[in-house]
Amino acid sequence: MNMFKRPGQSGLLRRQSTPQPARRREPVLKSPREIQIMREAGRIVARVHAAMQDAVRPGVSTWHLDQLAFETMARYDATSCFLGYNGYPANICTSINQELVHGIPNKDRLLKEGDIISIDIGVRYRGFIGDSAWTYAVGEITPEARELMKVTEDSLYAGIAKTIVNNKVVDVSRAVQQHVEAHGLHIVREYTGHGVGRQMHEAPQVLNYASDDPEGQTILRPGLVIAIEPMVQVGTWQTRTLKDNWTVISKDGSLSAHFEHTVAITNNGPEILTVP
Ligand code: MF3
Ligand code: CO
Repeated sequence: MNMFKRPGQSGLLRRQSTPQPARRREPVLKSPREIQIMREAGRIVARVHAAMQDAVRPGVSTWHLDQLAFETMARYDATSCFLGYNGYPANICTSINQELVHGIPNKDRLLKEGDIISIDIGVRYRGFIGDSAWTYAVGEITPEARELMKVTEDSLYAGIAKTIVNNKVVDVSRAVQQHVEAHGLHIVREYTGHGVGRQMHEAPQVLNYASDDPEGQTILRPGLVIAIEPMVQVGTWQTRTLKDNWTVISKDGSLSAHFEHTVAITNNGPEILTVP
């Protein structure tokens, strides 16, 4: 997710209350050849997610997941685009339960039955980025956690369904928000989706709620590629960052989920790139 720093604010990837660029930036459209490379990058991300899905179980450390992600990326000649990004110290982000995003893998952090874990994966392959996040259940989870996961995933697909030529970015944002709020859950406002290409974060910013953000007025054109990434919490839309300066959690400690796909706009409708 993209974060715009307030002028004068030091520190990395801080949240801000109104994450809006001052003016509309022009997106970089991708050629069919570039989209083909992004398709391959996206497929690699999906393969890394498949490895995560197989590995997620009670007793596994988030550090093990990070190593497995590293090895899987390497097998396909890809590298993490998170490692070193603003100093981020790992290959993937692993965020458990009330942790929303940017959880740092750690040898001492073991998954346990009933946890949910959001795993965010971004790779660079032949100069292009694929970016996708998914929340996984660790064994049996509560009905509340299951509902949170389903609503968040479905809100991603509601947004993707609006990712069609001549729609605006805000149409995607609104669809995500409406789905989440219709189910009584809370859409996080402090972090956003984004255009994606040679850079992980390109124009336009893709908010998960309708607003007067100027980039919401960006018209979707063939060749535009965006990462749509709803972040949803059970009790509040507000978040805070832990003392490690990375891990973002829900302000009230309630459960959080995060689903993200990289999606290309084509004349034949949305094409999800981060699939096998
Ligand atoms: N998928 C995230 C994003 O869209 C993850 C970036 S976090 C960092 O921005 F690790 F790269 F910092
Ligand atoms: Co992203």
